[in-house]
Amino acid sequence: MVSKKPRIVIIGAGMAGLTAANKLYTATGFKDQFELCVVEGGRRIGGRINTSEFGGDRIEMGATWIHGIGGSPLHQIAREIHALESEQPWECMDGWSEEPTTIAEGGFELNPSIVQPVTTLFKNLMDYAQGKMIEDSEGSEGIDYSNLAAKAFKIRTNNGGQEKLSVGSFLRNGLNAYWVSKKDQGELKGYGNWSRRLLEEGIFGIHENIERTYTSAVKLGRKVTGIEWQPEGHESSDKQNGHAARPVKLQFNDGSNMLADHVIVTVSLGVLKAGIREDSGMFNPPLPPFKSEAISRLGYGVVNKLFLQVECHDLSKFPFLQMVFHRPESEFRHKKIPWWMRRTANLCPIYSNSSVLLSWFAGKEALELESLQDEQIIDGVSATLSSFLSQPYKQVNSNSHELCNGNGKSVENIHGNEVKVTKILRSRWGTDPLFLGSYSYVAVGSSGDDLDKMAEPLPKQSSAASPPPLQILFAGEATHRTHYSTTHGAYLSGLREANRLLQHYHCVGV
Ligand SMILES: Cc1cc2nc3c(=O)[nH]c(=O)nc-3n(C[C@H](O)[C@H](O)[C@H](O)COP(=O)(O)OP(=O)(O)OC[C@H]3O[C@@H](n4cnc5c(N)ncnc54)[C@H](O)[C@@H]3O)c2cc1C
Ligand SMILES: *[C@@H]1O[C@H](CO)[C@@H](O)[C@H](O)[C@H]1NC(C)=O
Ligand SMILES: *[C@@H]1O[C@H](CO)[C@@H](O)[C@H](O)[C@H]1NC(C)=O
Ligand SMILES: *[C@@H]1O[C@H](CO)[C@@H](O)[C@H](O)[C@H]1NC(C)=O
Repeated sequence: MVSKKPRIVIIGAGMAGLTAANKLYTATGFKDQFELCVVEGGRRIGGRINTSEFGGDRIEMGATWIHGIGGSPLHQIAREIHALESEQPWECMDGWSEEPTTIAEGGFELNPSIVQPVTTLFKNLMDYAQGKMIEDSEGSEGIDYSNLAAKAFKIRTNNGGQEKLSVGSFLRNGLNAYWVSKKDQGELKGYGNWSRRLLEEGIFGIHENIERTYTSAVKLGRKVTGIEWQPEGHESSDKQNGHAARPVKLQFNDGSNMLADHVIVTVSLGVLKAGIREDSGMFNPPLPPFKSEAISRLGYGVVNKLFLQVECHDLSKFPFLQMVFHRPESEFRHKKIPWWMRRTANLCPIYSNSSVLLSWFAGKEALELESLQDEQIIDGVSATLSSFLSQPYKQVNSNSHELCNGNGKSVENIHGNEVKVTKILRSRWGTDPLFLGSYSYVAVGSSGDDLDKMAEPLPKQSSAASPPPLQILFAGEATHRTHYSTTHGAYLSGLREANRLLQHYHCVGV
């Protein structure tokens, strides 16, 4: 009898799904203990983390902050992968000017002069592997990276064969070729038992691990439309070649399907709310009441970000604008300011001197923002800027030029600077069918217990003697009792469900 590896399918390549996949993969020593697959309905990974570009600046359309850095696993990772630095300016970079700190096991803080060359090497090798040009072939240490990569590509396997080189072996060949080509820099002192080579290998390993989470079997454009499961367990179900058929069947929007032993569902609470509506047919049979009631009771809101590119003579003078509005029904209100602007707390450049301004919107104002034309938004914001920025200018220079707010798009700010909104970019979390909102909250009538119910796997264990079948597991921010709504909550939930499966199969996990 051929033994069959358990097949685990993870639905969603957001923080929770990728974390679970990475944990299942790495905890088993990369030994392919499971058939592991991530299916993602969208065309990119990251889910509600959506880094983008606007007006030449790097921006975040979704999650922006690592909430609380002390002891945060995400802050740790962000530091390790150098995500806290960038060559391009980024949102709220002011005050983040510190160099990241890299620390080796045992508490040895590494000087950037050790870290940087390895990072550069890795980047150049990846560029080569992806067929990109290596821009600067003469590296900082006088290393010709193109030549080195070409060598790494040609190194044959031990038996002299012509096997196809995996990206992983190519990278390792590259590291070895690097060591051969590099002039001896002498041993490092003061790093305990760490030699320079071990440190370099360790730093290289960080990059490999990041790459692994990107390049493992994530299938994009695979939207799950149906999940068939066996609430009564499946011991008695049909047998194939001496073992039970995989109990869960996934249907995809292209009509194809896939069988699995375990499915980790990480779709948002909004997608689950839509999925339990009678007409949806997402779960077959439908989820049991304890689960669907928790899904219904918990709250799931819409938050959107609006980025505006402005033209302004002296951007450094654009204020961190905090707006105090009249009540929406007040007779004193400025009629041209649209209602959806009136609950926006502030409007400010994403870092000092950036020509990109940012505003956050929530609730029905956020949904309205998704439905408007770009032009309507530009008009509404311009009217608001006009109302807020022109007045002080008037007071200071009451005898000079006319205010140019006649067309509602071009206004003078506090310092006599013309501010013109030229283009906008807004997130659309509420109407995107893969999210249907932004993040969950404990609504009136729900409680932390509902979050725990969200996390319970299905079907329920039938008796204490038999192991739980773990057909459908749930991860995602809305399944974490204390850190729901955050990226680290999503991260921890992904680890939790991966560990549940590892324990089930008596793997080490943690
Ligand atoms: C505007 C905004 C600002 C935020 N700010 C912060 C912040 O500053 N700090 C913070 O910690 N958190 C913030 N968050 C919350 C944070 O982004 C989320 O909590 C976290 O990213 C959720 O991760 P997840 O894996 O649970 O879900 P998701 O990221 O939603 O991942 C689920 C994945 O499933 C996919 N999917 C959905 N349906 C299907 C289907 N039927 N078939 C296949 N795939 C499907 C989706 O495309 C998605 O990729 C913010 C969120 C938003 C929207
Ligand atoms: C180095 O390794 C030796 C032997 O394994 C060990 O006894 C020693 O404590 C280590 N030193 C440091 C600084 O970790
Ligand atoms: C912003 O730009 C102005 C003018 O170009 C310059 O004087 C100022 O130092 C800049 N401020 C910052 C924080 O970069
Ligand atoms: C993610 O960012 C892109 C811009 O790069 C944008 O077009 C898309 O709408 C964003 N997704 C959501 C759900 O806001």
